[in-house]
Amino acid sequence: MYDEFRIPGTEFVEGEMLLATFVYCSRAADGVDDPEVARIVEFAQSHNRARGITGMLVYESGVFFQWVEGPVAQVQRLMTSLYADARHYDVVALDHSEERRERLYPDWEMEQVGADDLHAVLQDALATAEDQSIVAALNRILAQLASGPWVSLRQT
Ligand SMILES: Cc1cc2nc3c(=O)[nH]c(=O)nc-3n(C[C@H](O)[C@H](O)[C@H](O)COP(=O)(O)O)c2cc1C
Repeated sequence: MYDEFRIPGTEFVEGEMLLATFVYCSRAADGVDDPEVARIVEFAQSHNRARGITGMLVYESGVFFQWVEGPVAQVQRLMTSLYADARHYDVVALDHSEERRERLYPDWEMEQVGADDLHAVLQDALATAEDQSIVAALNRILAQLASGPWVSLRQT
């Protein structure tokens, strides 16, 4: 679908391109419920399509986990918006990198997926985190998951 797609001034071609990746987790603000998450996903899908961004979003027990990949400038712009978005907080960047490779999720403008692996991903991030503010935020996120209703997230 993206082979028809060009953003002027970027190196956006199908196949290998310079891709920026941003992976983070965060906590949903009070009042952000399933319908609000559905609105976020719907908005993301239409905007990401226009900006060459793909990825996935997990939402469970008040915690977001999002994987974003796309042209460097577009991912940077989205990151700025995400950090400023009051619908979530305690945003912890788990990965931000640039490399020449194919997309992991070429057909997902922003797919909402189940969270079976989320706990393990967060534990891995905690095991390697050195910055104490990140460790503290990850611990708060894991504590929130542990008190949530979804049993599979509590299995370690
Ligand atoms: C958890 C979460 C995930 C989001 N994911 C995206 C996304 O993938 N793409 C997107 O355009 N906006 C996404 N948004 C919305 C952005 O934060 C922002 O509201 C939107 O990009 C418009 O930003 P702007 O007003 O700075 O243009 C997300 C918001 C939240 C809370």
